[in-house]
Amino acid sequence: MQIRGIILAGGKGTRLGELTKVTNKHLLPVGPLPMVYYPLKKLTGIGIKEILLVSGTEHMGDFVELLGSGKDHGCNLTYRVQDEAGGIAQALSLAAHFARDARSVVILGDNIFQDTLKPLLNESNQHEDHAWVALKRVPDPGRYGVAELDGNKVLSIEEKPANPRSDCAVAGIYIYPPDVYEVIKTLKPSRRGELEITDVNNYYLKHGRLGSSLLQGYWTDAGTPDSLLHANQLVREHEPVW
Ligand code: DAU
Repeated sequence: MQIRGIILAGGKGTRLGELTKVTNKHLLPVGPLPMVYYPLKKLTGIGIKEILLVSGTEHMGDFVELLGSGKDHGCNLTYRVQDEAGGIAQALSLAAHFARDARSVVILGDNIFQDTLKPLLNESNQHEDHAWVALKRVPDPGRYGVAELDGNKVLSIEEKPANPRSDCAVAGIYIYPPDVYEVIKTLKPSRRGELEITDVNNYYLKHGRLGSSLLQGYWTDAGTPDSLLHANQLVREHEPVW
């Protein structure tokens, strides 16, 4: 089956305050590169050539100016506008036409991590009809989707729980089979008014079609002033493996 790459770089970035007043979070620097280069290089690093970038209306022109057709990065880029920040799953739904009949490797544009995606892809290749999530043990799981585990089997996933059942965060790195776009159509907005990616993952969990891999190297989001600083420190200490 074909594989396509999707970078989600919309949202409001409000947690970064003044830093995102006139630009998009994913254009801010992380080490020597704009943030969006990291998910892009992870996707091209595993040989994905067809990549879709989703962002809002405000800064789409800047992404096009920065990345162009993708030819300097060895890929073909397609762009789709998310009119309102309706949630990660809603942003992903915009890829339905682009990734029709393909598996989708999805990266949240503010996720910075060390590992190459090769092991994750290899493991998920054994179960092409499964959704696959990347997990990472963190000191502050309540900020993320949290997976409860039995060995390496996922038992439940909760979005930003007040009382996390484990320290295992669900990273913003996902692989989905083609029917993900049908699954998203069945979702209802959450209490924060968004279509939640955790609800997508729980659909696959409920149907016995969710797999997971633990990330070995560092992982962080870069969506708050502290985590953006942390991401900068991490990539300066150890360059990610593409
Ligand atoms: O970073 C991993 C976490 O990302 C996961 O553990 C959570 O399960 C998942 O819900 C998400 O949590 P956040 O609340 O941190 O997501 P945030 O709203 O910051 O969005 C993350 C990225 O998704 C952001 O960099 C851009 C993209 N996005 C987000 C929204 C809400 C969009 O492209 N469109 C959107 O409407």
